[in-house]
Amino acid sequence: MTGILNGKTALVTGGGNGIGRAAAMAMAREGARVAVADYEAEAGGATVALINQSGGQAISLSGDVTDSARVKAMIDAAVAAYGRLDCAFNNAGIAPHQVDAAGMFTSDWSEESFDRMIAVNLKSVWLCLKYEIPAMQAQGGGAIVNTASIAGLVGLKNATAYVAAKHGVIGLTKTAAMEYADVGIRVNAVCPGFIRTRMTAKTLEAREDQIAGRTPLGRVGRPEEIAEMVVWLCSDRASYVTGAAYAVDGGWTAT
Ligand code: NAI
Repeated sequence: MTGILNGKTALVTGGGNGIGRAAAMAMAREGARVAVADYEAEAGGATVALINQSGGQAISLSGDVTDSARVKAMIDAAVAAYGRLDCAFNNAGIAPHQVDAAGMFTSDWSEESFDRMIAVNLKSVWLCLKYEIPAMQAQGGGAIVNTASIAGLVGLKNATAYVAAKHGVIGLTKTAAMEYADVGIRVNAVCPGFIRTRMTAKTLEAREDQIAGRTPLGRVGRPEEIAEMVVWLCSDRASYVTGAAYAVDGGWTAT
């Protein structure tokens, strides 16, 4: 396969489902060899099978991105498998309902829910950066994309720690971009709007019409529409792009 990531290697966290799976598949379509990481090993394996069936190259890695030793081991394994790490998509994440905080305002969240959300959606991104950057630095550069959200750009009711984590992801992105620009590492964030994945299934069941009506393009997004931005940011076509946070939200944050 040839494409804009031809000859590159990539790591995708949360690659077993939704946006991560779509990104892993798009990266492979564009010529990258992809390490698909997910704590649901079966889901990661299914993404790898889809890539291999369509003529791409991928391997599956399992582990929780909140576990520092596992994150290091996953990055070491990706480098060992492919010899280098050119692109990383730090994407694994969870929604408020996955920490028992569905529908809760700020003062109603439990400390446990808040801590788990920050661990999965913010600290994990820093852990990935912590181990990806030295690997990329040693080989002379690379490109990293972190998944933030429209909730990294504006507030969102019922999502206090999610919003805090995603704003934090953009802060990490900007800072790392400044710190490592001179060693050839670009770091950017993608900020999806409402995208149809299992994470949003219940929300969309309850109020898809309302969300679509509030979105200038008049519908929710598809994971593949985020994947295209990720591929481009990882590619050399984005050679002058770093420290940016790109909304891919059907115009949601423009209103
Ligand atoms: P998803 O639930 O379809 O996929 C998330 C994947 O991450 C799953 O395969 C899951 O196993 C994995 N994962 C979760 N926690 C993990 C952990 N601790 N360690 C390793 N893997 C873990 O969700 P979706 O929608 O694809 O979300 C991906 C990212 O996009 C998340 O960071 C989410 O916050 C973000 N996002 C999603 C939006 C949407 O509307 N779906 C909107 C804005 C941002």
